Order: sequence, then C-alpha cells, then structure tokens
Amino acid sequence: MSVASLAEEAKQKKPAKPIATIQTLRGFKDIVPADQDPWRLVRSTAEHFAEAYGFGEITLPVLEETALFNRSIGKQTDIVEKEMFTFADQSEGSISLRPEATASVVRAYINHGMLNLPQPVKLYYWGPMFRRERPQAGRLRQFNQFGLEVLGDSNPVLDAELINLTYNFFRQLGLSAINIQVNSIGCQDCRKQYRDELVAYYKPKRRLLCEDCKRRLVKNPLRLLDCKQPSCRALRAEAPQIVDWLDEGCKSHFMKVIEYLDGLDVPYVLNPFLVRGLDYYTKTVFEIWHGDQEGGAQSALGGGGRYDGLVEMLGGRATPALGCSIGIERVILVLKEQQVVIKPSYVPQVFIAQIGDQGKIKAMILFEKLRQAGIAAAQNFAKDSLKSQLESANKFGVSHVLILGQKEVLDGTILVRDMENGVQEIIDYNKALPEIRKKLAQRQIAETPLVEKSS
Ligand code: HAM
Repeated sequence: MSVASLAEEAKQKKPAKPIATIQTLRGFKDIVPADQDPWRLVRSTAEHFAEAYGFGEITLPVLEETALFNRSIGKQTDIVEKEMFTFADQSEGSISLRPEATASVVRAYINHGMLNLPQPVKLYYWGPMFRRERPQAGRLRQFNQFGLEVLGDSNPVLDAELINLTYNFFRQLGLSAINIQVNSIGCQDCRKQYRDELVAYYKPKRRLLCEDCKRRLVKNPLRLLDCKQPSCRALRAEAPQIVDWLDEGCKSHFMKVIEYLDGLDVPYVLNPFLVRGLDYYTKTVFEIWHGDQEGGAQSALGGGGRYDGLVEMLGGRATPALGCSIGIERVILVLKEQQVVIKPSYVPQVFIAQIGDQGKIKAMILFEKLRQAGIAAAQNFAKDSLKSQLESANKFGVSHVLILGQKEVLDGTILVRDMENGVQEIIDYNKALPEIRKKLAQRQIAETPLVEKSS
C-alpha cells in the first residue's frame, strides 16, 4: 500500500467515539482516601464506646427476606412503602437490601438462641443501610450506621444508659449543639386509645392536611405528628399529647428514665410529638439532633427507643429490648461544619529518598526496618529525581529526610537532612535505627514546650 493511500485511509477513518464514563448511582458515594480520617475517628470512637459499655460486635448480612422488614418496620411506613430496594431472587423469593439493622439483630438473636444467654444481650454493629430516598446533603441511598441494641431486659435504667452513652459519644467526638429529644409512645394498649383520640382530633380538620397526612390519617395516624409541612405543623400544636394517655406502667417507666437522665446530668428536651418513623417502638423513644432543627429530618444524627414487642413479632419468645442507631455520614458532615480537628491516622516522621537501583533496594530495606521498629516513614520509590522526592518530603512535613544516593550506597552510609535547619549529617547504614531514633527523640524534646512551675 502506498503512502498516499495510507494517508487517504487515515483521513476517511472516523474519529473514535469517546467512551462514556460510568458514575456512581444517585445517592451512592465513594469514600476516597483523602476523606477517610473522619471515618476512622468515628468508627474507632464508636467501637471504643460500645466495648466499654459491654456491647459485643455483630456483623449481619445486607440482604434479607423482605418479610423481615415488612413485619418489623411496618408495611405502612415510608421506609417499607416506598424506600426499600427490593428484588425478586431466582430461588429466595422477595429479598431486600436492609434499610436498617434492628430487624436483622432481632432475627439473629432468635436464630442463634441468644435468649438462652445471660440477659441483657448487648450487641453493636457498623455498616451500610439502603433507602431509596430523595438524595440531598445528609440524605443518601446508601448510608452507614453505628447501632447498639440491648435485648432481654425491661429495666428503664437501660434506656437512660443508652441515651447517656450516645450523648457521651457525641461529646467525645468534640461535637457541640447536641440536642437530645425524648418521648414515650407507650405500649400497644395505651397507644390504641391515643390513636383514636388523635384521629378524632384530626378528622374534622382533614381538608387542612397535606396529601401525605390525609393518607396517614387512615393508615398510620401517629405519623401525622412529625410531618414537616407548615399547615400540618400548625394543627399539631393543639393535638392531644401521648403522655396524657400513658397507662400506669408506661408512665412510671418513663418517669424512671427521666429521673436517671437528670441524675446523670444528661441534657434532654421532652418532645411530646416525637414518634419515630418505624412501627416497632414502644415506650421510650429518642432522637439526637444537631442544633434545634425541626427544619429538615436530615439533622437527626441518630435515633432509637424501646421495641418490647419486636422479638415476639418475629417469632421469638416475648422479650423486652431497646436500641439506637447513629447516621455516620451526618455525623461527619457536622464534624466538618464545626471544624473539629481530626488527626490523620498515619503521620510520617521521616522520608526516605533514593537515587539509582541500588539506592532503591537499600531504601526499601530501610523502610521495612523502620516500619518494624515503629518509626513512621514515607517514601516515593517510583520517583528518580531527588528534587521531586524532597518536594514530597516537604508535603509530608517530616522532620528528617534519609537520602540513599550512589555515594552513600558505595560507602554504606545514609545522608540525613534535618528539614528544619537544613543541616546534613552522614550516618552508618548499619546503625541507622538507633541513630534515627536518637534524632527523633532530640527533636521531640526540642519541641516540647517548657511548663512554668507555679510557685
Ligand atoms: P432511623 O431513625 O431510621 O432509625 O435511622 C437512624 C439514623 O440513621 C438517622 O438518625 C440518620 O442519622 C441516619 N439515616 C437514616 N436515613 C438516612 C439516609 N437516607 N441518609 C443518611 N443517613 C440516614 C433506625 O434505623 C433504627 N434502626 C434505630 C434503632 C436501633 N432503633 C432501635 N434500635
């Protein structure tokens, strides 16, 4: 083929169509390395709290039979009605990505015969939940929860302990403006009477309600109380309050919880309209808000309460229980908003720079030695130029750079550069560990502020 015809063929070839990139689904997010520090902080704090308060970790599947959520969260709730990711599986029937984990914890409690363990059984979990909600800041379709569940004991001190734990967890993270909302929605019996009362109150005002609330009036009247529409809010102000309908048992349980919270100095707000969005609750319910919210449901950092009927509803022996979950993405948003300082998990003290193949090998061996000795080192072995390696060292903010150039390799030495004053020193490669330790210790002493003795 001639050069001319080759050129003609190339001219006629259509330009290659750019390949479309694929994005994450709406409401689903990647968490890239640069964003991981707050995640690590929240997770390690959560684990520390859970273990300190005697909770054991449980890891649960993300897929469950849809019936588990229908029966527990309730068919008439927003979550089950419109937010679940549900699929027909070839052999398992209808399955769903878990929208929350309390139902799974209860299933596991029954399946593993935990009813026979000393009670209460305290379990905690961490992991992704899935709800097909309209995505916005703090509201995702895949989000993560840290959850705590206590099964097998009806003592109100447990309700107070759980609220206290949650409150201290947020304090430990350094968050301010934490606002705990508490209410009691009683047991099935007192709630039935209250529900009738509520319907009687709202029925004559039906035309003033939003479309959703008109449906709620028939299907799930308690949910009328947490509608965010201004017209429904206005009506709520005069609505009957559940606390007035609590029977003696539920009332005294609630009084005890309040008494313990007062004794512990945990600040809380009694919110007679707090009802929560899941059907399994009984007696104490609570939410942790950031600020005084009311504006958007996204400011609830967590929520929970008692669910004394759930174990039985899912086929187990009647067992009182309670729990709560915290939304990690929302906590991280607030950490950022409040500019809470988060220490990175790995802070290199030294940088190892190298030149040439032999330099690279010695540098890699040295890196491993330092790592084993607990000295945090950084490196960029793929770079050949010393200049760009020193730039990296600067970015890491290390106190010393250890240079292994051709001369050092031949001499069996390392050139150590103090990044603060630029002073360079040669040390023996074989004595690198004690020498570097000494230098880091000297630097630490120099940087420790002198504390003035009070007379
Ligand atoms: P929940 O109130 O549905 O309760 O969720 C708890 C927390 O999860 C919320 O306060 C919020 O921080 C976070 N969350 C919920 N939905 C989203 C979303 N779409 N995007 C981001 N974060 C979200 C439960 O899930 C119950 N299982 C709590 C519980 C445990 N009750 C007893 N034990």
